[in-house]
Amino acid sequence: MVLSKRCSGKLHRFLVILGAELISKVVILTGSPHNPGMSKQLADAFEKGALEAENEVYRYDAGLQGKTQPFYLQMEKGSGTEVGIQDDDLIEKEVIPKLLEADVVVLVSSMYYFGINAQLKTVIDRFYNYNHELKDKHSVVLITGYGSQDDLAAIKLQMQKLQDYMRWPSLGDVYADDSWNEAKLAGFTKEAYLIGKKS
Ligand SMILES: Cc1cc2nc3c(=O)[nH]c(=O)nc-3n(C[C@H](O)[C@H](O)[C@H](O)COP(=O)(O)O)c2cc1C
Repeated sequence: MVLSKRCSGKLHRFLVILGAELISKVVILTGSPHNPGMSKQLADAFEKGALEAENEVYRYDAGLQGKTQPFYLQMEKGSGTEVGIQDDDLIEKEVIPKLLEADVVVLVSSMYYFGINAQLKTVIDRFYNYNHELKDKHSVVLITGYGSQDDLAAIKLQMQKLQDYMRWPSLGDVYADDSWNEAKLAGFTKEAYLIGKKS
Protein backbone atom coordinates (compact mmCIF):
# COMPACT_ATOMS: atom_id res chain seq x y z
CA MET A 1 0.00 0.00 0.00
CA VAL A 2 1.35 3.47 -0.94
CA LEU A 3 0.15 6.35 1.23
CA SER A 4 1.00 10.01 1.70
CA LYS A 5 3.83 10.93 4.06
CA ARG A 6 2.05 14.17 4.76
CA CYS A 7 -0.89 12.72 6.72
CA SER A 8 -1.45 13.81 10.34
CA GLY A 9 1.10 12.88 13.02
CA LYS A 10 -0.86 10.08 14.74
CA LEU A 11 -1.99 8.51 11.47
CA HIS A 12 1.57 8.77 10.14
CA ARG A 13 3.01 6.94 13.17
CA PHE A 14 0.31 4.26 12.91
CA LEU A 15 1.05 3.71 9.19
CA VAL A 16 4.79 3.46 9.87
CA ILE A 17 4.11 0.79 12.53
CA LEU A 18 1.96 -1.07 9.97
CA GLY A 19 4.88 -0.94 7.54
CA ALA A 20 2.94 1.01 4.88
CA GLU A 21 5.02 2.53 2.10
CA LEU A 22 4.83 6.31 2.56
CA ILE A 23 5.56 8.72 -0.27
CA SER A 24 4.92 12.36 -1.07
CA LYS A 25 3.54 13.43 -4.41
CA VAL A 26 5.69 16.41 -5.29
CA VAL A 27 4.99 18.96 -8.03
CA ILE A 28 7.86 21.26 -9.02
CA LEU A 29 6.96 24.39 -11.01
CA THR A 30 9.89 26.41 -12.35
CA GLY A 31 9.70 29.77 -14.11
CA SER A 32 13.07 30.78 -15.50
CA PRO A 33 13.56 30.93 -19.27
CA HIS A 34 17.34 30.65 -18.68
CA ASN A 35 18.67 27.16 -19.37
CA PRO A 36 20.90 26.06 -17.81
CA GLY A 37 20.32 28.73 -15.21
CA MET A 38 20.85 29.32 -11.52
CA SER A 39 17.35 28.62 -10.23
CA LYS A 40 17.48 25.40 -12.27
CA GLN A 41 20.39 24.31 -10.06
CA LEU A 42 18.17 24.70 -6.99
CA ALA A 43 15.28 22.87 -8.70
CA ASP A 44 17.54 20.02 -9.87
CA ALA A 45 19.07 19.61 -6.41
CA PHE A 46 15.66 19.60 -4.72
CA GLU A 47 14.37 17.07 -7.27
CA LYS A 48 17.40 14.82 -6.73
CA GLY A 49 16.80 14.83 -2.96
CA ALA A 50 13.07 14.22 -3.36
CA LEU A 51 13.66 11.28 -5.73
CA GLU A 52 16.31 9.80 -3.43
CA ALA A 53 13.66 9.93 -0.68
CA GLU A 54 11.54 7.83 -3.07
CA ASN A 55 8.89 10.45 -3.62
CA GLU A 56 6.85 10.75 -6.79
CA VAL A 57 7.92 13.90 -8.66
CA TYR A 58 6.19 15.78 -11.48
CA ARG A 59 7.99 18.84 -12.87
CA TYR A 60 6.73 21.56 -15.18
CA ASP A 61 9.30 24.08 -16.42
CA ALA A 62 7.02 26.96 -17.37
CA GLY A 63 9.88 29.10 -18.72
CA LEU A 64 11.10 26.39 -21.09
CA GLN A 65 7.97 25.69 -23.10
CA GLY A 66 9.07 27.50 -26.26
CA LYS A 67 6.42 28.88 -28.57
CA THR A 68 3.56 27.16 -26.77
CA GLN A 69 4.04 29.66 -23.91
CA PRO A 70 2.33 31.37 -22.19
CA PHE A 71 -1.01 30.14 -20.96
CA TYR A 72 -2.47 33.29 -19.47
CA LEU A 73 -5.49 33.23 -17.22
CA GLN A 74 -8.46 34.46 -19.25
CA MET A 75 -11.65 35.74 -17.64
CA GLU A 76 -15.18 35.39 -18.97
CA LYS A 77 -16.49 38.47 -20.75
CA GLY A 78 -19.08 40.63 -19.05
CA SER A 79 -20.30 38.33 -16.27
CA GLY A 80 -19.70 40.98 -13.60
CA THR A 81 -17.75 38.52 -11.47
CA GLU A 82 -14.32 37.05 -12.03
CA VAL A 83 -14.81 33.70 -13.71
CA GLY A 84 -11.84 32.02 -15.35
CA ILE A 85 -12.16 30.51 -18.81
CA GLN A 86 -10.87 26.95 -18.73
CA ASP A 87 -8.35 26.62 -21.53
CA ASP A 88 -7.93 23.29 -23.24
CA ASP A 89 -4.17 23.26 -22.79
CA LEU A 90 -1.36 21.48 -20.96
CA ILE A 91 -1.92 23.45 -17.76
CA GLU A 92 -5.55 22.36 -17.64
CA LYS A 93 -4.97 18.81 -18.81
CA GLU A 94 -1.77 17.93 -16.98
CA VAL A 95 -0.40 20.52 -14.55
CA ILE A 96 -3.59 21.27 -12.61
CA PRO A 97 -4.52 17.56 -12.19
CA LYS A 98 -0.99 16.89 -10.85
CA LEU A 99 -1.30 19.88 -8.51
CA LEU A 100 -4.69 18.72 -7.24
CA GLU A 101 -3.26 15.39 -6.13
CA ALA A 102 0.08 16.79 -4.86
CA ASP A 103 1.17 16.71 -1.23
CA VAL A 104 4.00 19.21 -1.78
CA VAL A 105 4.18 22.11 -4.26
CA VAL A 106 7.61 23.56 -5.05
CA LEU A 107 7.77 27.02 -6.62
CA VAL A 108 11.08 27.90 -8.28
CA SER A 109 11.97 31.23 -9.88
CA SER A 110 14.69 33.73 -10.53
CA MET A 111 14.16 37.33 -9.46
CA TYR A 112 13.19 39.53 -12.39
CA TYR A 113 12.74 43.21 -11.51
CA PHE A 114 12.09 42.35 -7.85
CA GLY A 115 9.37 39.83 -8.73
CA ILE A 116 9.09 36.20 -9.82
CA ASN A 117 9.38 35.06 -13.45
CA ALA A 118 6.27 35.94 -15.47
CA GLN A 119 6.10 32.35 -16.72
CA LEU A 120 5.69 31.00 -13.17
CA LYS A 121 3.18 33.73 -12.31
CA THR A 122 1.16 32.70 -15.36
CA VAL A 123 0.79 29.18 -13.93
CA ILE A 124 0.00 30.49 -10.44
CA ASP A 125 -2.80 32.66 -11.88
CA ARG A 126 -4.28 29.50 -13.39
CA PHE A 127 -4.86 28.21 -9.80
CA TYR A 128 -7.83 30.59 -9.76
CA ASN A 129 -10.52 28.09 -10.83
CA TYR A 130 -9.24 25.58 -8.27
CA ASN A 131 -8.39 27.81 -5.29
CA HIS A 132 -10.30 25.77 -2.76
CA GLU A 133 -9.38 22.30 -4.03
CA LEU A 134 -5.72 23.33 -3.98
CA LYS A 135 -5.70 24.31 -0.29
CA ASP A 136 -3.92 22.41 2.48
CA LYS A 137 -0.72 21.08 0.96
CA HIS A 138 2.88 21.72 1.93
CA SER A 139 5.18 23.99 -0.04
CA VAL A 140 8.77 24.89 -0.81
CA VAL A 141 9.99 28.12 -2.43
CA LEU A 142 13.36 28.30 -4.20
CA ILE A 143 14.48 31.69 -5.56
CA THR A 144 17.75 33.02 -6.98
CA GLY A 145 18.69 36.67 -7.44
CA TYR A 146 21.85 38.53 -8.26
CA GLY A 147 21.16 41.13 -5.55
CA SER A 148 21.09 41.04 -1.74
CA GLN A 149 18.64 39.52 0.75
CA ASP A 150 17.13 43.00 1.00
CA ASP A 151 16.48 42.97 -2.78
CA LEU A 152 14.71 39.61 -2.37
CA ALA A 153 12.39 41.00 0.35
CA ALA A 154 9.45 41.78 -1.95
CA ILE A 155 9.43 38.28 -3.46
CA LYS A 156 9.76 36.74 -0.01
CA LEU A 157 6.74 38.69 1.23
CA GLN A 158 4.70 37.74 -1.86
CA MET A 159 5.57 34.06 -1.58
CA GLN A 160 4.91 33.95 2.17
CA LYS A 161 1.51 35.60 1.59
CA LEU A 162 0.77 33.02 -1.13
CA GLN A 163 1.82 30.12 1.14
CA ASP A 164 -0.43 31.47 3.94
CA TYR A 165 -3.34 32.12 1.59
CA MET A 166 -3.16 28.65 0.05
CA ARG A 167 -2.67 27.11 3.52
CA TRP A 168 0.54 25.53 2.28
CA PRO A 169 2.92 25.48 5.28
CA SER A 170 6.55 25.55 4.21
CA LEU A 171 8.89 22.56 4.48
CA GLY A 172 11.82 24.99 3.98
CA ASP A 173 12.53 27.81 1.55
CA VAL A 174 15.73 29.02 -0.10
CA TYR A 175 16.22 32.67 -1.07
CA ALA A 176 19.60 32.52 -2.79
CA ASP A 177 21.02 36.04 -2.93
CA ASP A 178 24.31 36.97 -4.65
CA SER A 179 23.54 34.15 -7.09
CA TRP A 180 26.50 34.79 -9.39
CA ASN A 181 28.78 33.85 -6.50
CA GLU A 182 29.38 30.17 -7.31
CA ALA A 183 30.51 29.15 -3.82
CA LYS A 184 27.49 30.79 -2.23
CA LEU A 185 25.13 29.26 -4.80
CA ALA A 186 26.62 25.83 -4.09
CA GLY A 187 25.67 26.30 -0.40
CA PHE A 188 22.10 27.25 -1.34
CA THR A 189 21.91 24.30 -3.76
CA LYS A 190 22.87 21.95 -0.93
CA GLU A 191 20.09 23.46 1.20
CA ALA A 192 17.60 22.78 -1.62
CA TYR A 193 18.83 19.18 -1.87
CA LEU A 194 18.36 18.63 1.88
CA ILE A 195 14.83 20.06 1.79
CA GLY A 196 14.09 17.67 -1.10
CA LYS A 197 15.41 14.75 0.97
CA LYS A 198 13.00 15.46 3.82
CA SER A 199 10.00 16.24 1.62
C1 LIG B 1 15.24 40.32 -16.99
C2 LIG B 1 16.07 40.15 -15.74
C3 LIG B 1 15.72 40.86 -14.61
C4 LIG B 1 16.47 40.71 -13.44
N1 LIG B 1 16.11 41.42 -12.33
C5 LIG B 1 16.83 41.28 -11.19
C6 LIG B 1 16.50 42.02 -10.02
O1 LIG B 1 15.55 42.81 -9.99
N2 LIG B 1 17.26 41.86 -8.93
C7 LIG B 1 18.30 40.98 -8.89
O2 LIG B 1 18.95 40.87 -7.87
N3 LIG B 1 18.62 40.24 -9.97
C8 LIG B 1 17.92 40.38 -11.12
N4 LIG B 1 18.26 39.64 -12.23
C9 LIG B 1 19.33 38.63 -12.10
C10 LIG B 1 18.76 37.21 -11.87
O3 LIG B 1 17.78 37.19 -10.87
C11 LIG B 1 19.88 36.28 -11.44
O4 LIG B 1 20.93 36.27 -12.38
C12 LIG B 1 19.32 34.88 -11.23
O5 LIG B 1 20.23 34.10 -10.50
C13 LIG B 1 19.05 34.19 -12.58
O6 LIG B 1 18.53 32.90 -12.36
P1 LIG B 1 18.17 31.99 -13.61
O7 LIG B 1 19.46 31.75 -14.33
O8 LIG B 1 17.60 30.77 -13.03
O9 LIG B 1 17.14 32.73 -14.42
C14 LIG B 1 17.56 39.80 -13.40
C15 LIG B 1 17.90 39.08 -14.57
C16 LIG B 1 17.16 39.26 -15.72
C17 LIG B 1 17.53 38.48 -16.97
